[in-house]
Amino acid sequence: MAELFWLMAGGAALLWLLVLGTAFHATRIRPRSHDERAGRWLILGGGVALPLVVLTGLLVHGLALMPALRAAGDGLLIRVSGEQWWWRVTYQPPGGEPVEAANEIRLPVGRRVELELSSPDVIHSFWVPPLAGKVDMIPGRTTRLVLEPTRTGTFRGVCAEFCGASHALMAFMVEVTEPAAFEAWLDAQAEAAVPPAGALARQGRKLFMELGCGACHAVRGTGAKGRIGPDLTHVGSRLSLAAGIMPNGHKAFARWIAGAEAIKPGSRMPSYDMLPPRELEALAAWLESLQ
Ligand code: CUA
Repeated sequence: MAELFWLMAGGAALLWLLVLGTAFHATRIRPRSHDERAGRWLILGGGVALPLVVLTGLLVHGLALMPALRAAGDGLLIRVSGEQWWWRVTYQPPGGEPVEAANEIRLPVGRRVELELSSPDVIHSFWVPPLAGKVDMIPGRTTRLVLEPTRTGTFRGVCAEFCGASHALMAFMVEVTEPAAFEAWLDAQAEAAVPPAGALARQGRKLFMELGCGACHAVRGTGAKGRIGPDLTHVGSRLSLAAGIMPNGHKAFARWIAGAEAIKPGSRMPSYDMLPPRELEALAAWLESLQ
């Protein structure tokens, strides 16, 4: 892209000088009337032939650069699906089992990663400004984005296509780490949920199952296998809650469970505002412990 940019910038500067030089010549150096034949040749040559040759050359050069821009890397594939209003993220390591997570993306620095973008219902647009341009997520087809992060750090991504009431409430973080840290993180994500530690967390897990939360959410290693909402197997370790709109922590868990409909209008998560504070606290304690 930089190569194409500098080529076009240089070419444009050259042509600009040529046009201004011609204008200067015609108005200042030889301001008299000009030879008609020479004028016709100038128009045909500079107005028709030159743009034809220059633009055709640029098109061919640009097309030749495109395959390298879209070529996949050494195999890590990440599927991201725009949901009502959150992000389903599935890591597909080469030759391994897929690992499901949500609402954040981790990438190894210096590696080419292919992202497959989709949506089950409406159009979203996947956009992480510091990493790449926006790519639409269109129901019924899969779009691709190939990324190669060049520095570590945490970058904010958003949905860049109006997709309904909570369009502005579906953000995510992209964390770029060293490849070894990424591999360790992915291995940990592939594990089942840790067993609850302590009475409060145990009560939280029991409540989660009794309230039917498992109809929408999956927690690997338990009976919860729902596919409608985000996979919660390691939700306590995520950088944020409710798709980038709340800090992760037991207070935020309790607030979200009790008031999901108010916090994210139109979300498919119902508000469990009938739960007594003690039960909310237990649920929050268990979810927070899912590291
Ligand atoms: Cu999804 Cu806007």
